[in-house]
Amino acid sequence: MTTATHTISLRKAPAAAKDAIALLRADHEAVNGMFAEYEKTRSDARKKGLVADNCTELRVHAQIEEEIFYPDVNAVLKDKLLVPEATVEHGGVKDLIAQIEGIEPDGEMYDAKVRVLSEYVKHHVKEEQNEMFPKVKESSLDLVELGARMAARKAELLAGNI
Ligand SMILES: [Fe+2]
Ligand SMILES: [Fe+2]
Repeated sequence: MTTATHTISLRKAPAAAKDAIALLRADHEAVNGMFAEYEKTRSDARKKGLVADNCTELRVHAQIEEEIFYPDVNAVLKDKLLVPEATVEHGGVKDLIAQIEGIEPDGEMYDAKVRVLSEYVKHHVKEEQNEMFPKVKESSLDLVELGARMAARKAELLAGNI
């Protein structure tokens, strides 16, 4: 008797693992998508929900970059200012997140803070994608292994909802 059916089920592919850069790019897209959604939203409750989701996403993203991606990248890049510059930018993003989370979406100041956060993030993402990632791709880093470590840490942080 053939065991073909059984063999096929054993060969089922594992969930496709993203390399480190694909993972970070997908996060960037998700965050920018949420900012675009915010601009179209009139409801304060919906705005609050979007901001809460986006701040969690941004915090987790910044943490996996700072804990895992940036140290490995800094070790192989010749430009020793790229990672420290990105870390300083994270500080600016986190300060603004803290300001936004402390207030209610009840007026122009809230919308203004969210817009400035979105501008900070867009600037930062552009530098990562246009300056840092191309250099990382040319480096000797194992981006699949790095991506797996980052995905695992991301899942852990999201489960703890930091
Ligand atoms: Fe970053
Ligand atoms: Fe990033």
